[in-house]
Amino acid sequence: MPHKNALPFDPFVFQSNILCWYDQNQRVLPWRVVGNHKTDPYKVWLSEIMLQQTTVPAVIPYFLKFTATWPDVRALAAAKDEDVMAAWAGLGYYARARNLLKCARTIVEDWGGEFPQTHEDLLSLPGIGPYTASAITAIAYGKPATVVDGNIERIASRIFAVGIPYPEGKKYVHQKAGALFEKIDVWNPSKIKCYPQALMDIGAGVCTPQNPSCTVCPVQMFCQAHLNENPDMYPMRAVKKATPIRRGDVYWIQDTEGNLLVHKRSTKRMLGGMTGLPTSDWDLKDSDLKKEKKEEQNLDFQAIFPDLKRIGDVYHVFTHFRLELTVWRVTVPHFKKVLELSPDFQMVNIHMFKLSDMGFPTVFLKAARLAHQGSKG
Ligand code: ADE
Repeated sequence: MPHKNALPFDPFVFQSNILCWYDQNQRVLPWRVVGNHKTDPYKVWLSEIMLQQTTVPAVIPYFLKFTATWPDVRALAAAKDEDVMAAWAGLGYYARARNLLKCARTIVEDWGGEFPQTHEDLLSLPGIGPYTASAITAIAYGKPATVVDGNIERIASRIFAVGIPYPEGKKYVHQKAGALFEKIDVWNPSKIKCYPQALMDIGAGVCTPQNPSCTVCPVQMFCQAHLNENPDMYPMRAVKKATPIRRGDVYWIQDTEGNLLVHKRSTKRMLGGMTGLPTSDWDLKDSDLKKEKKEEQNLDFQAIFPDLKRIGDVYHVFTHFRLELTVWRVTVPHFKKVLELSPDFQMVNIHMFKLSDMGFPTVFLKAARLAHQGSKG
């Protein structure tokens, strides 16, 4: 079948169609400025860090909690590490929270509490990569920058029907995405602030990963994938490799007064710096594979607490592997000996805190819920 051709790409028409659409259809989001209010770089930065790898609906309550507790970068820099890690619990990718704090402290110590304004200076800060530096440059300061998040990547890959599969294709898609930002009016900061956010809203609501709504798209006339009637094919993905499975054990160890043994994880491990339940290593399920170098020696909880009972299994999907954890539970008169072994073990009273307020990452919350349910039965 001969393919029809899209209109030659015209950045002026493309950008003005996108911005007209945004005028009528933009999402109301707590980090967005409406009308002539001043944009706060702290809020732009915080939202962009939270939105990496995470959806808008998941981020909104965290963003509101963070800005209510720490309304500016100085307040965040002065916060205790464990309070910030606990407030981040459930949002995932915890290195982001550790870098968030490092970045806030660098801004206070090296930049007098003011966010730097150039792309280059922003890039020098912890946790700020090229995407986030561009997003802050454009959205907070209204200075031209090519902002390419996952939504904008998808739009560019469809507009230009980039036929090279990822991961190699990503580079080409990024090059092509540059054209979407060409010739933007440098004298119009408000346009520059809105434009990337408008593209993100198109990506989230119109140019969706599956079944995009091309008939209501304001730039369909430029879209080669739409004219080829195959937008779902883009961005082109390589055939996926099977996700490895790891497995381990996780322990609910409580005393008769309701004190629960919890463990602050080493910063060298996954979920580093977060507090969770004590756990074994998470080994690859295929037992023939060689054991990896261990960062720290785990205690043999089965030997220390021989009355541990198996409660069930929980599952959690991380970016690079799927985890299967067997949940074990025991109630003992006390577990003081374990507390003496390392300051990383602590106790929390389960009558005083809700499980959801303990600052556990989601995988430990799943295990804790299962174990706690079991303890009531
Ligand atoms: N995804 C990443 N940044 C965003 C933003 N500023 N608005 C909406 N979605 C986003």
